[in-house]
Amino acid sequence: MSLQQKVEQNVGWLIVLVILVVSVGGLVEIVPLWSMKSMTQPVEGLKPYTALQLTGRDLYIRESCVSCHSQMIRPFRAETERYGHYSVAGEFVYDRPFLWGSKRTGPDLARVGGRYSDDWHRVHLINPRDVVPESIMPAYPWLEENLIDPSDIKAKMRALKNMGHPYTEEEINNAPAELEGKTEMDAMIAYMQSLGVLIKNKR
Ligand code: HEC
Repeated sequence: MSLQQKVEQNVGWLIVLVILVVSVGGLVEIVPLWSMKSMTQPVEGLKPYTALQLTGRDLYIRESCVSCHSQMIRPFRAETERYGHYSVAGEFVYDRPFLWGSKRTGPDLARVGGRYSDDWHRVHLINPRDVVPESIMPAYPWLEENLIDPSDIKAKMRALKNMGHPYTEEEINNAPAELEGKTEMDAMIAYMQSLGVLIKNKR
């Protein structure tokens, strides 16, 4: 019996050897990433989200914006011409969970920060058709009406701090005051304007 027959007819050996082969393949891909600076270091100037931006990010999750918008520019000419510099790993160090998304019913938002004014975003979110007549994006008028509830922000920031986000105690303690009297719209706009601004838009 050849070696190949022996291995293929013995389920135990087959399992062990398949696991071995697959893990070597995995390790070869993964291990080098541990030591690549571009994979493990935040890009220069990256800070964890402020209390207001963080709240906006949670609203982005609540409203499921991620189901129509990606936040990940791939390194292809067609994408970089349209959206700007491709996304790099170091931009997402404080994105937990990341919101790269996988569907683009609307445009990618990875570098939307600074592309429009706050007022543009406000009008667009209340009714997208007022600024983009052919838009099929849903309207989110309640963002303008709802005040933010600041009662859980400290716990949220503390949880992220435990995961390694470098918030100072002062930032955490000041967070509820930062959200006082702000609407959900203010938070969403602050979040939108923070996206992708550290790497210059080459458009
Ligand atoms: C059903 C799909 C859908 C959902 C859900 C959705 N959008 Fe959109 N979005 C679009 C489409 C389509 C466009 C392009 C037309 C326009 O600008 O309105 C767009 C455009 C945008 C733009 C302008 C991007 C650019 O570069 O011009 C922003 C900003 C945006 N959406 C934010 C949001 C936010 C924030 C949410 C969640 C509150 C959201 N979208 C939810 C489909 C969607």
